[in-house]
Amino acid sequence: MSTEFGLFMDQYPDLPRTPVAVEPYISAEYFEMERAGIFRKCWINVGRESDAATPGEYFVRNIEIAGASVLVVRGSDGAVRAFHNMCSHRGNPVAWEERGKCRHFTCQFHGWTYDTRGALVHVSDRDRFFDLDPAKNGLTPIHCGVWQGFIFINLAKSPDETLEAYLAPVTELVDGYPFSSLTKAYGYRAVEQVNWKTLIEAQMEGWHLPYLHKNTLAKTATDRGKRFRHAALKRLGAHSLVSSQAPESFNPTPVTAISISYGVGTFDAFSVESEREGKGPKWHGAFDLYHIFPNFYVGLLRGTYFTYNVWPLARDRTVWEVTGYYPPALNAGQVFSQAVGSVGLRDTLREDAFVHEQITRVIGSGAKDHFHLQDEETAIRNFLGQVNARVHT
Ligand code: FES
Ligand SMILES: [Fe+2]
Repeated sequence: MSTEFGLFMDQYPDLPRTPVAVEPYISAEYFEMERAGIFRKCWINVGRESDAATPGEYFVRNIEIAGASVLVVRGSDGAVRAFHNMCSHRGNPVAWEERGKCRHFTCQFHGWTYDTRGALVHVSDRDRFFDLDPAKNGLTPIHCGVWQGFIFINLAKSPDETLEAYLAPVTELVDGYPFSSLTKAYGYRAVEQVNWKTLIEAQMEGWHLPYLHKNTLAKTATDRGKRFRHAALKRLGAHSLVSSQAPESFNPTPVTAISISYGVGTFDAFSVESEREGKGPKWHGAFDLYHIFPNFYVGLLRGTYFTYNVWPLARDRTVWEVTGYYPPALNAGQVFSQAVGSVGLRDTLREDAFVHEQITRVIGSGAKDHFHLQDEETAIRNFLGQVNARVHT
């Protein structure tokens, strides 16, 4: 759909066009409601299968907003499972390292031991316990599923829907992207003074590109005399697609030009329309960014993709993790090319992070009750609608 001929919002007559309230960004009470209504109920991405590639490999995800430490481990049978990282004796986390490989998890408090499938296989001083059934005291399992190598967990005792149903509107567009041929190449992690929704929403519109990113991403791309218009904005159930079109022209810096000659994935990846036919994903523009509710993004480009995981710590503090994937670099030129791409993305995202914290410094003043969203910010309306509906159920 082109905005030359209409508004993206016309696709969704049920989305309100009214100003949006500031309160949810600053209220401690609202943050508490998000904890229960969203992060303890939704499917949450915690990593990729390659993070626990072989039997016994594990990693730990501490999800502060849910008050949970999640242990993801590939069992001796090859299956990936998730458990609460909490000993059945008196609650000590059984894995203290962020990642590792083992045959057993032995609790460092009193030595109870679990296998990689979560079974309690050793109870220290077994004959001094009363009425204890080891078979019923393995690690507490967490619902866990995998889509395209992405591992999701759901902390609800019984999730409202399966992972497949939850992701269906996204998977039908994305499946076919060559995720499995790209490997983790870089990552960034920032702890920011910002509400998690402000961080999420800053990635939900490209309209700020010619303003905030005029010295970085927008510098090499020109759409003379034109306003920024998305290639597509789509509501996909709870999720959304924010697609940016290739600019009219692309003028790389000398360093970027050299890097392009060795590989893909520098700024040039944002500038090339992707093949829309064939058996790959259904491309909508040069850069298709999928938000998977509540806190995960997958950004698809030609030859490279990246993810964002956004972890709320408090109403005004959030962790932002950025992970980039490339084909394995085969020579020094490709290493250079990928480094230029990763640094370019970093510099652009640092500009976003600066704004997040600037907003946080002033948003609590009470000066404004409402903010305003235009048509290019339609995905934010969908996101806020989802948040609001879930905190009030
Ligand atoms: S808390 Fe784990 S053995 Fe005591
Ligand atoms: Fe940005």
